[in-house]
Amino acid sequence: MSDQIKWGILGPGRIAHQFARDIRLVKEARLWAVASRQKERAREFAQRYTIPKAYGSYRELVEDEAIDIVYIATPHGRHYEDIKLCLNHNKAVLCEKSFTLNARQAQEVINLARTNGLFLMEAMWTRFLPITQKLRKLLKQNVIGRLHMLSADLGFPFPFDLQSRLFNPVLGGGALLDVGVYPVSLSQWFLGTPREMRSLAVMGESGVDEQAGMVFSYANGVMAHLFTSIRSSTPSQAVFMGDKGHLIVQAPLYRPSGIVIKLENGREEYLKAPLKGNGFNYEISEATRCLLQGQLQSSIMPWQDTTDVMKIMDGLRALWGFSYPQESKGI
Ligand SMILES: NC(=O)c1ccc[n+]([C@@H]2O[C@H](COP(=O)([O-])OP(=O)(O)OC[C@H]3O[C@@H](n4cnc5c(N)ncnc54)[C@H](OP(=O)(O)O)[C@@H]3O)[C@@H](O)[C@H]2O)c1
Repeated sequence: MSDQIKWGILGPGRIAHQFARDIRLVKEARLWAVASRQKERAREFAQRYTIPKAYGSYRELVEDEAIDIVYIATPHGRHYEDIKLCLNHNKAVLCEKSFTLNARQAQEVINLARTNGLFLMEAMWTRFLPITQKLRKLLKQNVIGRLHMLSADLGFPFPFDLQSRLFNPVLGGGALLDVGVYPVSLSQWFLGTPREMRSLAVMGESGVDEQAGMVFSYANGVMAHLFTSIRSSTPSQAVFMGDKGHLIVQAPLYRPSGIVIKLENGREEYLKAPLKGNGFNYEISEATRCLLQGQLQSSIMPWQDTTDVMKIMDGLRALWGFSYPQESKGI
């Protein structure tokens, strides 16, 4: 492997544009190719970001021997197939959230990455931002005393559209897998896997979850209350509550703008972390660094955490009695 990592993109949709802008900030990474199911779309995207290769099918891209790693930016209903396609063609993978539809799919592709000796990571970009790394340090230092509660949410009002991946069950639609994964991943990162979960969801016209409330309990009486929605605009923040004060992670939850610490003794502190680019560059840097150092997984978003997040979301969907059409075929 050379000292510059060559990247390819599968699925030049909304989020792929953000990725293509931010990768320029990572000097060890080079955007080498893009693939769309329509050649013309790939060509336009390649032109816009000066990408050398544009492919009219995902298979052609994974057959390009120059590519080291593929960023998968397709709807989550097909991440499982797309990850397998890449790993079976000797490509490392950075795959958008939600990583797969369920924990069974996640475990299968992780096993495949391990067997093939390839790097694989979920693109939960929030974990790599300087501000969230700072948050982790603050909580480890017990700035708010002993942590007892977490509240976190993410939601946006999206107009109902059956064509959109958000409402289409086959594409992995629903609030939980699209936006709810952020508060769920945050809770998993700081509190681990809940001992017990309670949850209610409102299912919409197309049969997917459009709003949900979740209450998790952990050992030692720690609790988390989370909510998510694709119907309503939510505050999009997190509050960590301890016995000496609370800490507010300011909106938007996926890329926090600051941290406010409010202590019972009246002390207040506001922290802001400088951000380069849109913030995707931090996860790109981490994946590139792991590849250059021959690591198969990242310690910030390890395989176990991805599987645990998927298991929590499987558990929530089981409470609602909701499964995706593919799951009835055991996929
Ligand atoms: N990290 C973040 O902040 C963030 C934000 C938004 C979304 N995401 C995640 O990124 C992924 C893509 O989201 P997006 O908002 O970019 O979606 P999008 O705009 O709909 O783009 C998805 C792309 O996937 C390809 N695709 C392949 N099969 C498809 C199908 N059956 N239906 C529709 N598109 C299909 C399409 O490209 P071609 O047809 O050209 O191949 C399309 O452009 C999702 O998993 C989502 O959760 C992450």
